[in-house]
Amino acid sequence: MEVIENLNRFAKLMARLNKEGLDTELIQMGIGQLGKMSDDETIQLENDVEQIKDQISKHKSELKDDSSKLTGTSMTEKKIVRGYIDGCYDLIHAGHYNSLRQASKLGDRLVLGINSDSEIEKVKGPTIFKCEERCEVVRACKWVDEVVPDTEYTPTEGILDRYNCDFYAHGDDVAVNESGEDSASQLKKVGRFKMFKRTKGVSTTDIAAKLLRIHDENVAKEEVKNLDSSAKSKKTSLPAVLGSHNANPDFMASAKRIALFANIREPSDTDRIIYVDGAFDVLHPGHIELLKNAKALGDFLIVGLHEDQAVNQYMGEHYPLNALHERVLNVLACKYVDDVIIGAPFKITNKLIKDLNVSVVVKSWEYITNSMIEEARLMNPYEVSFRI
Ligand code: CTP
Repeated sequence: MEVIENLNRFAKLMARLNKEGLDTELIQMGIGQLGKMSDDETIQLENDVEQIKDQISKHKSELKDDSSKLTGTSMTEKKIVRGYIDGCYDLIHAGHYNSLRQASKLGDRLVLGINSDSEIEKVKGPTIFKCEERCEVVRACKWVDEVVPDTEYTPTEGILDRYNCDFYAHGDDVAVNESGEDSASQLKKVGRFKMFKRTKGVSTTDIAAKLLRIHDENVAKEEVKNLDSSAKSKKTSLPAVLGSHNANPDFMASAKRIALFANIREPSDTDRIIYVDGAFDVLHPGHIELLKNAKALGDFLIVGLHEDQAVNQYMGEHYPLNALHERVLNVLACKYVDDVIIGAPFKITNKLIKDLNVSVVVKSWEYITNSMIEEARLMNPYEVSFRI
């Protein structure tokens, strides 16, 4: 009776083994042993079969991996989708950074074409920053994988193919070219266009307008010096329209948006924490160089952003051009930055160094003293950090 049961069980096992494509010689060897097997031994054999099955499937997947390494492809490998976005990206602002963040989510890799100075001049007029400076700033953006300088204003299939890109991304505003046409119309027709939401309330034009007003006021002040006293009183009553009270009312950074820009990585116990502070108003290549060099000194870079009032006091009545919440977003978009202190103290204290576990304080002095007013310079904000 026991032998018959064993035979039945063994027959089932053989069928399973055959299904797995196991060597029939091995099965024959098993049959030879059958008559001598006890129940326990049969159970043991069943377990062995399960193990053999595991080993077969492991071996099969290893073979698959090896062959995909040899051919450079995998059965499950997904095509890398490359997106192309372009623009002027002059006087970079939080709307620009949000465009890059959104476009990066539409594919796997994001290529950013920075339009040439001459192309921009034809459509919008002269740029403030030159193409290479604009490229330098966006190269540091954490959502951009590749930057192509001096690109054409009108994106074409030829451009997408040249940079091996699948689609073109643009905000939901229409970019009109020299001929007054939607510059993305061709790509829309061939289905190689993806759209994201343009960020309301922030633009290069607004920042440039603030700069122009500063210029105009400076000219007006010069004129006042040369006027008689009655005219002088009239001129000096010019309303103060810029400065810390100039925070952009049309663009608000909600906690959600800050979270979308922020990094979640916490510093580890062994990380060397670097601290650098400043206004970091409209980001330019000098800021990027400072942040890159600061990050190179350690593992985790914290940027302390001074509040608008402080920036206003040490840089002069018209600054900052970007309000604190906009500056927070811009700095968080930079790949060298791990965290930001919103409204950092102007004078660095021992408490700040201890609380943030800072190993090195980088003084951004060289970058800001040129524009800093004398009183602020005399406060010697880095006095404490020199003593650590
Ligand atoms: N963009 C955006 N939100 C903004 C400003 C620009 O999403 N507030 C997007 C545009 O839709 C475009 C990209 O950023 O896809 C590059 O814009 P750019 O060429 O620099 O110029 P403009 O669209 O004219 O933006 P701005 O008015 O700020 O110069």
